Amino acid sequence: MTQAESGISGVVARGHGRAKLILFGEHAVVYGKPAVAAGLPRGARATVGFGAAGAHQLTLRSALDEDVYARVECDAPPAMAGLAPGESERLQQAFAAILAQFQPPGPLQVEATIEVPMGVGLGSSAALSVAVARAIGELLQQPDRVDDAVQASECVFHGNPSGLDQMMASSNSGVYFYARDHDFDLEMAPIEGPPITLAVCEAGPAASTAQMVDKVAKRRLREPQLIDTLNQLIGDVARAASAALADGNWARVGELMDINHGALGALGVTTPAIDSACHIARQAGALGAKLTGAGGGGCVVALTPGGAQQVLATWAEHGWSGFEVTIDYRTK
Ligand code: MEV
Repeated sequence: MTQAESGISGVVARGHGRAKLILFGEHAVVYGKPAVAAGLPRGARATVGFGAAGAHQLTLRSALDEDVYARVECDAPPAMAGLAPGESERLQQAFAAILAQFQPPGPLQVEATIEVPMGVGLGSSAALSVAVARAIGELLQQPDRVDDAVQASECVFHGNPSGLDQMMASSNSGVYFYARDHDFDLEMAPIEGPPITLAVCEAGPAASTAQMVDKVAKRRLREPQLIDTLNQLIGDVARAASAALADGNWARVGELMDINHGALGALGVTTPAIDSACHIARQAGALGAKLTGAGGGGCVVALTPGGAQQVLATWAEHGWSGFEVTIDYRTK
């Protein structure tokens, strides 16, 4: 799309954010436990300029099917919603939260393209938030507002985000160890191991991260000791996995993925389809498999050091489409 077609006039600025795969530690990371995640080559891109007149406007497209998912204006009801019920309102609120951090001098027109499926655990909302906030920060020459803007937007999408998705969306390629304790002291370091090859498939329908985080929170209110023990276990697994990933000890990494998946089941965030996609991946030769992201639907990740073809073909026989990705911390 050209600038003229998009209605953006004058100076434009661009931003991008990465999608992510959580390899270890989702949910427990919300309670201050460590996690391990990888930045994907794809994510979201945004272009921003000053619009002709009227309200701030955000148009969201999919790079996968060229559809317009949603067009939201700051002060008007959302239009053209190709998103799940409630999602375009959430998008509108997230956009407003970003704008509130920047206080633009005139109406902004944002064109955003999302390069991964939304709501399936790949960090699309954080990638989008980072892309949009970076583009606006560059246009208005306020780069120091970007992090707060992304955090405000992620609070709309997630309710109580751990910050992991935001950090991964802003990161370089690679696998990272991430820990943020209750005092908000952050430790984030690339794991400098050999490249890791994974198979990813979308096993279930999109699910709301905010709802899944809330589900775990409610379970924790009922069973605080047991859920804290599970979270501690997941954190210990993430710590062990970071050492195994650094050594390229794939057998141990795979086993730890399976243990992590079992603990996520105990937290109540897997589904029969996710469990079945994990089981099938292991039978097709994956060294380990688990859900990735918030669960309740969404994606499964499987460890396939020898290549993902066999696992992808077996998933396809069951109607699940997926992709192979190799992540190397040396690729920028
Ligand atoms: C969602 O991608 C990951 C969760 O751990 C939530 C969070 O970290 O904010 C489920």
